[in-house]
Amino acid sequence: MKDYNYKFNIMTLFPEMFNDFVSSSIIGRAVKNNILDFKIYNFRDYTLDPHGKVDDYVFGGGNGMLIGPQPIYDCYKDILENSGKKNITTIYMSPRGERLNQNLAKEFASEEEIVILCGHYEGVDERALKLINAREVSIGDYVLTGGEIPAMVLMDCISRNINGVLGNEDSSSTDSFSDGLLEYPQYTRPRVYEGMEVPEILLSGNHKLIEQWQKEQSIMITKQNRPDLYEQYKNNLK
Ligand code: ADE
Repeated sequence: MKDYNYKFNIMTLFPEMFNDFVSSSIIGRAVKNNILDFKIYNFRDYTLDPHGKVDDYVFGGGNGMLIGPQPIYDCYKDILENSGKKNITTIYMSPRGERLNQNLAKEFASEEEIVILCGHYEGVDERALKLINAREVSIGDYVLTGGEIPAMVLMDCISRNINGVLGNEDSSSTDSFSDGLLEYPQYTRPRVYEGMEVPEILLSGNHKLIEQWQKEQSIMITKQNRPDLYEQYKNNLK
């Protein structure tokens, strides 16, 4: 019997990188409360190479080493068997993938379980990606040394969209992107710090005016920091 709302299966050569992620803060709480489940597979455990090797030289030349298909595919088959499923949405973290955004995270959050493959070195053999039917996802236009940090970014972003992960106190309804705009500035006590005052309107108690101010600030910040999002926002209003 499944006793969680959402399960992440991670294929990696560096399982230890996930220890703090799955046990800290909001994600750690969701694991304790059986809302999220993380199963971390070291695909080196699946290699048939007697020396534990998972990578090899690249056909056709090129720098570095490539992870071969066998350990990845055998690990993937084991995940399917353990999950009792014929098919699970599978993602390969890669700078050549489709770019992660809030909508894509919500799409993945609507599943019950996913598999994420983290590559290292120069990448993985293309046949491995075919065999596991991987959808490639990038977290941005820059290259990192491995897929583990991108996988954590993706999982964090998905998790915030799973029921029960965020408490009321950390609700996502006012997040940046929730209405196509970036978040407005917020303040807490003290009212004056280092000579800087909290904007008067926020102390007025007039909720209508406060909301209007917040919206104006959101629009201003979006226009300044992300003209592309601002254009989209304007077009959606038409
Ligand atoms: N692996 C290395 N760089 C990456 C990126 N930008 N996004 C996803 N996976 C990656």
